[in-house]
Amino acid sequence: MTFASKVAVPILKPTPENMQLAAEAILAGELIAMPTETVYGIAADATNPKAIAKLFEIKGRPAENPLIVHISDFVQLEDIVSEWTTSADILANRFWPGPLTLVVQKSEMIPGIVTGGLSTVAVRMPDHPVALEVIEIAGVPIAAPSANRFMQLSPTSAENIDPAIATKLAFILDGGPCRIGLESTVVDVTQSPPRILRPGGISRGDIQAALGIQLGEVPSNGDRKSPGMYARHYAPYGEVVLCDALTTEDFGLVLSEPLNENQLQMSADPIQYGARLYDSLHKLDAMGVKLIKIELPPQTGDWEAVLDRLKKASA
Ligand code: TXA
Ligand code: MG
Repeated sequence: MTFASKVAVPILKPTPENMQLAAEAILAGELIAMPTETVYGIAADATNPKAIAKLFEIKGRPAENPLIVHISDFVQLEDIVSEWTTSADILANRFWPGPLTLVVQKSEMIPGIVTGGLSTVAVRMPDHPVALEVIEIAGVPIAAPSANRFMQLSPTSAENIDPAIATKLAFILDGGPCRIGLESTVVDVTQSPPRILRPGGISRGDIQAALGIQLGEVPSNGDRKSPGMYARHYAPYGEVVLCDALTTEDFGLVLSEPLNENQLQMSADPIQYGARLYDSLHKLDAMGVKLIKIELPPQTGDWEAVLDRLKKASA
């Protein structure tokens, strides 16, 4: 069941009063869900270790998997970052606000519980008026992991927030469906050349064009640098199998003509495909589909983020 409105958690319109309430709840150490342009996040005061501990607990998230800290203004970087590199500066100026997260050296202000004990912190400025306004009113950096249980599908609408999560929140701010629909691209800019730890809303090509260099590769040896990179992730309840073509019996996602009404046709454009992917998987879950077949998209660079999520959902 993935329908937050079935549970007794207020789903509030993002009026000025409710955004004020959200900021007050966060400053009081409570948790709320808020929209961003990528996915819905559970927002907590990144400077409050107690609130952060509660956040890890309700997500069922391992303590070594660090959180992204969200800001609304470049000025906040002075408080949370101890070392700002040239590539960080170029990428932030080019892509913020937007679906790009930069891993940089952290300051004392960010407690170790936020970063899983790492000396680095992941920072992003979301491109969503509600998220920006709540962060601005709260006046603190806000940790916001995706509003799902560990390893499960991220919600791209208020309705898709799992009741198991929703019941632990003060309330949900409903900003409608998320425009990007896939999580932000996480880039480690402490290294030269920088490297992508998680593909996402900004493509490798766009990042390389902005920097004028090729990005580095992430070693696949369980490096502590990318603690949140688990093989299985972003998974619906149904088992996901990737294939070249679906048969008339199959339920799932297709690029070609659907062969029955249980096959959802996806866009041939990777950006639009990404925007609809999680919502489509939530739909199949809500139908109770046990085996979700997915027609493999082209194995090309512009599909990198989508292919990453499909691979992890099927692992
Ligand atoms: O689009 C997004 O980024 C969404 C919205 C809500 O902003 N948030 C999100 O957060 O996806 P979460 O917690 O689900 O994913 C955070 C990712 C994980 O893969 C984690 O390992 C990585 O960021 N990360 C965070 N801090 C890191 C650090 N210091 N070093 C390396 N990776 C880090
Ligand atoms: Mg997540």
